[in-house]
Amino acid sequence: MTARSRRPSPPKRVARSKASRIPPASPKGPVIGVAGLGYVGLASALALTHYGRTVVGFDVVEARRKDVARGVVPLYDEGLATELTQSLRSHRLSVVDSVEDLVRAADLILIAVPTPSSESGAVDLSFVRTAALSLGRALAQVSGWRSFVVKSTVVPGSADSVVAPALEEASGRDRGRDFGVGSNPEFLAEGTLVKDALEPSRIVLGVAEPRTEALLRDAYQGFPSPIVVLPVASAELVKYASNALLATKVSFANEIARFAEVLGADVYPVMEAVGLDPRLGPHFLRAGPGFGGSCFTKDLKALLATARDRSVALPVVQAVLEVNEGQARHVVDLAEKAAGPLAGRDVALLGLAFKAGTGDVRESRAYPILGELLKRGASLRLHDPQAGPAFIAGLPPLPASAVGDRVRLADTLEEALTGVDLAIIQVDWSEYRQAPAATWRRLKGKTLLDTRRSVDPEVLRQAGVRYAAVGRGSA
Ligand code: UGA
Repeated sequence: MTARSRRPSPPKRVARSKASRIPPASPKGPVIGVAGLGYVGLASALALTHYGRTVVGFDVVEARRKDVARGVVPLYDEGLATELTQSLRSHRLSVVDSVEDLVRAADLILIAVPTPSSESGAVDLSFVRTAALSLGRALAQVSGWRSFVVKSTVVPGSADSVVAPALEEASGRDRGRDFGVGSNPEFLAEGTLVKDALEPSRIVLGVAEPRTEALLRDAYQGFPSPIVVLPVASAELVKYASNALLATKVSFANEIARFAEVLGADVYPVMEAVGLDPRLGPHFLRAGPGFGGSCFTKDLKALLATARDRSVALPVVQAVLEVNEGQARHVVDLAEKAAGPLAGRDVALLGLAFKAGTGDVRESRAYPILGELLKRGASLRLHDPQAGPAFIAGLPPLPASAVGDRVRLADTLEEALTGVDLAIIQVDWSEYRQAPAATWRRLKGKTLLDTRRSVDPEVLRQAGVRYAAVGRGSA
């Protein structure tokens, strides 16, 4: 049977950690190849070198390869540059210039390429398929076993139905006999990439062949994390279920916040008390402007789309997205409630990134909040300590009436606050947290709406600023 005509093999039941059934790994440990040196690929590569593995990296973008090879990180994240310098100095990390060199050098290849959203909300697997095809062509030129493991976030079933067939098609080899395919999802959050990569809460291995399991277990030797071994599609599902549950907690906190506002209660101590129940946990219960970032919205939409394809309804996930979409409008409703109608008023929007500690503006809630403020006739003064230019670059075309002075980027917090009628904090940057009463005095007699509980209300009281917050009623 030719590789081309073979159907993708169904996920097999996996032998669970029975050492006797797993072939011994080479004493030096596997050489690990990382295909894709974006933040996921790079942080994963650096963690593996940190624990003594040898890693070769490849990226299709030449500039990215050159940057990484000379120690330049693709984005700022705490500790990333230092780890990269150490990995290069120890020669545990090297960058190769071709996918052929990658497959020649490595026993285990992690695929960490982008998986953006398509217009329908489904995940676009074209980069993954293209990577698998080129890895497959390279596989055809070498002898011996290789395992290809998907790190990118892909909908359940993708490794089996997209990656394995592409590898077979391009290599003419057979999965299971000549090479393995698996899944090893990542749980890295921006801002804590290195910490999350070095100390993952769990390492999830989706495997269908004992050799792939053995290589992965060897790769992760020394990591201080529990290892969970699952069939491939189950491992892929862990990633989506995790992000969906985290997003659910945030939307739930935002829903309770809306009720707290009318009750005259404060959602923050309420959710802190809720989170003391160890069955619920304290994390991701902070109400705010809604969740942003490149992952939650994209992953939840992809989960809905893939479930819909299989005729499965996911009403909870649907509701989580709906609450999140409504939250920006709700923030602006709160602003009008606190400060009066916004038509013709000047508003400072403070914090444009999707969360503190990153310059990333993808899916930032500042975009829909800005859109809603413009719709209601306000003029905007924007500020962010990191993300100002990126935010402006990502703005969709504004209505003609909004061009010019209606949207301006301020260089400093002071400039943003001077002369405005209202300020809204969208990100809890430490610059806002630490700003003294003297800075806020520029808003004297006006209102600050804090969506993230960044500023001490007492500091605002000293400054003579009216205070409003998401999830805090005024009864
Ligand atoms: C998220 C997950 O936390 C990671 O585990 C996952 O690996 C990653 O997505 C991914 O799929 O790649 P990230 O998007 O970097 O990481 O950021 P988070 O810290 O999870 O925050 C997401 C959004 O939720 C932010 O806008 C944040 O401000 C918001 N959030 C978070 C709240 O509004 N309230 C909270 O209590 C927590």
